This record gives sequence, structure tokens and C-alpha cells, in this order.
Amino acid sequence: MSKLDDFRLMFGQRELVPIMIGGMGVDISTSRLALEAARLGGIGHISDAMIKAVSDTKFNTTFVKEKLQRYKFNVANMDKSAVHFRLAELAEATRLHVGKTMEAVRGAGMVFINCMEKLTMNAPKETLAVRLRSALDAGIDGITLAAGLHLNSFSLIEDHPRFRHAKLGIIVSSARALQLFIRKNMRTNRLPDYVVVEGPLAGGHLGFGLDWAKYELSTIVQEVLAWLREQKLNIPVIPAGGIFTGSDAVRYMEMGAAGVQVATRFTVTEECGLPDTVKQEYFKASEEDVEVNETSPTGYPMRMLKHSPSIGAGTRPNCEAYGYLLDANGRCAYIDAYNRALEANPGSRKVSVYEKTCLCTHMRNFDCWTCGHYVYRLKDTTTKNEDGSYRQLTTEHVFKDYQFSTGGQIALPA
Ligand SMILES: Cc1cc2nc3c(=O)[nH]c(=O)nc-3n(C[C@H](O)[C@H](O)[C@H](O)COP(=O)(O)O)c2cc1C
Repeated sequence: MSKLDDFRLMFGQRELVPIMIGGMGVDISTSRLALEAARLGGIGHISDAMIKAVSDTKFNTTFVKEKLQRYKFNVANMDKSAVHFRLAELAEATRLHVGKTMEAVRGAGMVFINCMEKLTMNAPKETLAVRLRSALDAGIDGITLAAGLHLNSFSLIEDHPRFRHAKLGIIVSSARALQLFIRKNMRTNRLPDYVVVEGPLAGGHLGFGLDWAKYELSTIVQEVLAWLREQKLNIPVIPAGGIFTGSDAVRYMEMGAAGVQVATRFTVTEECGLPDTVKQEYFKASEEDVEVNETSPTGYPMRMLKHSPSIGAGTRPNCEAYGYLLDANGRCAYIDAYNRALEANPGSRKVSVYEKTCLCTHMRNFDCWTCGHYVYRLKDTTTKNEDGSYRQLTTEHVFKDYQFSTGGQIALPA
């Protein structure tokens, strides 16, 4: 019976265990988690979501406080177009987060960074260019372009000395998105080094509408593989979304995938950045607790636990401190939803906002419990402690379970 370890992900001469742990912002996929994946011979991701806030927590910088101080005059104003990011600070936060992580890499694997292009920061092009360039400067092994993929992002870094050496990948949810990206990027004479094909059962934002259930990962992967074959393009394809066991992964490898990207099973590991109480919520979840809703102001549906504290919270827009989702005109769909709720409830001091969520605030506070569809199976991957809580796993345990399990088995912790 085949196991995932019978396969290798090849990047040129480089041979890796074909397991990529997906990026999970904000600092859910921590450096510790990514470094473990690399130590074990696979690929781990850190994320650059809200990187200045992450830098403050990890490196005692004071970026968030200073930005809030700078824009304090605007806090009560619902027009946030005056709020800007200082590019030098963004670069410094990236240098710290990426640089310190890369210094600590051990083992045969690699560490990539997940860059969600939907974090438009009131200056999409300028801020994305700084994020990508600073990550390359700080020695990241690879960059995965995600959520809101721009068709010409490669051109923002094509003059960077590491443009042709670092691994650059994209996340798509259809063969068409891949075709468009490749066509648009012809000019840079550089193909993506890998393509993550993310299906409808993934965690985080989905590249589908609310009709996500009509799609199937295996069909999309086959379409992508067929198109690449037809074009004689040799780009490793990495399926993601709902791959819960090593045997699920093997099915994709036998289909022609080069590796798999997985995330949900690692949310309950010791190295994952979620608070322990939230990990228990993930363990306890039942299938009925999971929904795909439109509360994310990005415009993409997002999967989360129905009882996430972010849902309905009437948080005052917090863009002076954060503001990562402000579009090129300084707007965010949450601000509009918040204003509508205020208008509908004149005179009330506290409103509930169900339409959208202040995603910056709630992701930062780990109050938006995004998860993959199979989160409700996590309880079957562990044992219980004496106090009735579920036992956290180590990244090594989960990684090796994917790598070596056969017959759909899941190894419980010893
Ligand atoms: C808690 C959580 C947070 C996530 N955050 C991000 C993110 O910031 N960027 C991104 O591209 N994908 C994100 N994802 C998607 C994962 O990287 C991955 O592709 C997907 O969840 C894989 O499916 P699985 O969770 O069923 O294994 C997130 C997933 C989870 C579970």
C-alpha cells in the first residue's frame, strides 16, 4: 500500500517530503510551525498578514502603537483615506519576521511566506512591492501569492536579484485562473515554480462563491494537470483543501500531483499560534458548527466556526491601528456595514454588525475561527486529557502521520 513518503517533491535537484503546511494568518502558522516542517524535510509557511502587529508581539517593536498615535485624530472619522502605512516600517517588520525565521532554519526542508494580495493597505501596489522585496531581501526560500492574486505581481519584483532563484508560487482555484496568470506573466519570462490548487474545502478565504459545494478539488486538479500537459509546462501542482490523511494525499500523488498543502490538522499542534482555548474549540467542533459565510470584508467567502466571536461583534473600525484591508481608496466593506448598523440603531452605544466583520481586529485577537471543512474530524486525531480536554499534538506527530500512514489510518499520540 502506498504512503506519501514513497513520493518526493522535486524543485530542480532539491528533494523534499511532499508536504507543505499552508500559510495561516495572522501568525497561526508561526515560525515554530514552519521551522518544524522544514526540519522534517517538508515546506512550512509563515504569513505576512498584519506583519507589523506580529513584529510587535514577537520583537517588541511598537509599530501599531505609533501608527495609532499618528492617526489618533482620525479615530472617530469613518473616512479612512488619510490612513497610510509607512513603507520603511513594513520593510523593517518583514525583515525581522522573515530574517529571524530564516536564521533558525534547520534540516532539509524550506520555509516560504504566504502573501495575501487582498491586504491592500490603502496603496496596493506600493505595499505589495515592499512586502515581496523585503521578504526576498531577508532570505525567504519562497513566496506563495494568495487571496486576491494580481496577474502581474511578478513584475513588481522582476528586477530583484533573487527573482529567478527564490521559489515563487501561486494559489488558484481553477485552471482558468492559472491560464490567465501564466499568459499575463509571459513578459517576465518566468513561470511559477509551483501552483497550489486550492479546492472548496479549505480553511481561510475561498476562491469560490457561495456555490462552493458544487466544485470538487480532484476535478480541478485534473483540469490543471491536463492543461499543463497540453502546454508542455512542467510546473509542480500542489492540491489543497480537505486532504485529511496520508491516504487522501497519496490519491493526489497518484493522479500526478507533486505534493499536497495541508493546514487544518496543524491548527491543534503545540507549535500553532492559536491560543489553547481556541484549539479546544477546533477539537470540539461538530460538522453543524462549520459554515461558509460572507462576513469577510474582502468579498471572498470564508469558512469558520459559527460561534466565532467575530460574528456580530460591533467593533469600531480600527484602521488607525491596523487598516490592512483598506482598498486603494481607503475603504473597507466593514466600515460601510458598521455605519449601516449605526444608522439602523440611532442612539445606541453598542451595535451588532452581522453583515461584515472587522477582520483585522478579529484575526489579530484570534476571534475569527476560520478552519477547513474537516475541522470536525480533529477530535478523532487525538486522545483526551484527564480533565476532559483534548490533547494537543506535536507538529512532528501530525507531519509524520501524513508522511507514513496508510489505509486512511490516523495515528493517535502515544
Ligand atoms: C486557520 C486557517 C487560516 C488560514 N489562513 C490562510 C491565509 O492567511 N492565507 C492563505 O492563503 N490561506 C490560508 N488558509 C488556507 C490554508 O493555507 C490551506 O491552503 C488550506 O486550509 C488547506 O486545506 P485544509 O485546511 O483542509 O488542510 C488558512 C487555513 C486555516 C485552517
